[in-house]
Amino acid sequence: MLPEPSIRNPKRDKHTKNGRSGWYEYYAGYSSHFVFDAIKYAHITEGSTILDPWNGSGTTTQIANEMGYIAYGYDINPVMHIIAKARQLDVGVKNSINTINKDILIKAKRNRSFVYLSNDPLQAWFDTATISAIRNIEYSIRKLLVDEKAISRKRRLNNFDDLSDLASFFYVVLFRTVRQLVVPFLTSNPTWVKVAKDNSQLQHWEVSDIHKIYKSILDEMINEFDLYSSNSIVERKNRINLGIANSEDLPIHMNSIDAIISSPPYCTRIDYAISTRPELAILGFPEEDLDVLRRKMIGTPKISREIPKINTNWGSTCLEFINSVAQHNSKAAKSYYYKHFVQYFNGINKSILELDRVLKKDGICILVLQDSYFKDIHNDLPQIFTEMGQNVNWKMTNRIDYNTNKSMANVNPKTKRYRSRILTTETVLAFIK
Ligand SMILES: C[S@@+](CC[C@H](N)C(=O)[O-])C[C@H]1O[C@@H](n2cnc3c(N)ncnc32)[C@H](O)[C@@H]1O
Repeated sequence: MLPEPSIRNPKRDKHTKNGRSGWYEYYAGYSSHFVFDAIKYAHITEGSTILDPWNGSGTTTQIANEMGYIAYGYDINPVMHIIAKARQLDVGVKNSINTINKDILIKAKRNRSFVYLSNDPLQAWFDTATISAIRNIEYSIRKLLVDEKAISRKRRLNNFDDLSDLASFFYVVLFRTVRQLVVPFLTSNPTWVKVAKDNSQLQHWEVSDIHKIYKSILDEMINEFDLYSSNSIVERKNRINLGIANSEDLPIHMNSIDAIISSPPYCTRIDYAISTRPELAILGFPEEDLDVLRRKMIGTPKISREIPKINTNWGSTCLEFINSVAQHNSKAAKSYYYKHFVQYFNGINKSILELDRVLKKDGICILVLQDSYFKDIHNDLPQIFTEMGQNVNWKMTNRIDYNTNKSMANVNPKTKRYRSRILTTETVLAFIK
């Protein structure tokens, strides 16, 4: 029997943010070396299929693809889909990027008229001149790389699903540019972006400054354009499947996946949609759609009108946790937090059933999880996932715990009231079906 290869800590550190993984800093992302180790650990044969149903910035799909596997990656957030897509860009186009970009910026400068969408979501942070400058770049990218017949400037991009890798790359440059412009609206919580309270708070940026920031980000990304084999491009393209989908309902055939490597959404009330609000605004996502997206996300702080029924299949640890939250005497424990956790575990359990549907017999599932606390009650997510996995007859083959000081629970300063020191553990669970 082969010795089990070890799996390095999934946390990203400054050494693991080089290359494409540094193109967009996703606070929820894990490291490329973790995916590499997990694939080695799973001993999967050449040509196998690897899925990440919560693909985020596309770490799993990039590494799986580079290592020669057929990669499937889905995320419900179109922003993350575009970022994952950009990461697949072939190094063969590196030398053409500057030329294409010159064209984009020339066209953007030529657009003298104010171009913006009616009810432009960028109005949350910027005055009309600034919106116009951002939209002119976006419109140029769209016209040049997405749809040359994009006649109406007032219409938003609506085919996020089939943007090319190249168009996605330029969208990421613009995402990062606007991230710099919204800095006054960022908070100590890295996942929360405020909006202007009134017109006096709207930011004004000169076109030349916006272009300067945009260009310096582009240069930085070109410098980080690490080698991604340009051999057999066609073959590689056939081996990557990225899309926007809900992990509860994946567009994949049953029994077709050899391995799943993923980290599910955290259970610490992170609002994944709001955390990418500036990027969604660039895509022209209107307020109503933002709300719909927020509600569909697992772990959302939004509470639906209809709270799902608790299911005994969620396992005893989960049920005890939910019960303790319901009985906790702190404010809003029953009226809000209890509902929030029920929603979260309902989404997770439905997703596990879906993963079981698509995973082949003897398929491997490797998940990264973090435990957390509600007040003084331990939310033992690794144990809860273990029980949910056992419920679909998966066998747990390994559990590795890593202590972490960078915890998602720590993004909320109020949690410290209950514990002076928040020790969380990051856990890697490996199952076999
Ligand atoms: C912990 S992050 C994954 C990060 C990823 N491993 C990386 O390296 O970037 C979890 C992801 O789940 C996504 N998500 C939340 N609810 C979802 C759902 N119902 N279906 C699919 N994806 C969802 C979020 O948008 C988020 O990107």
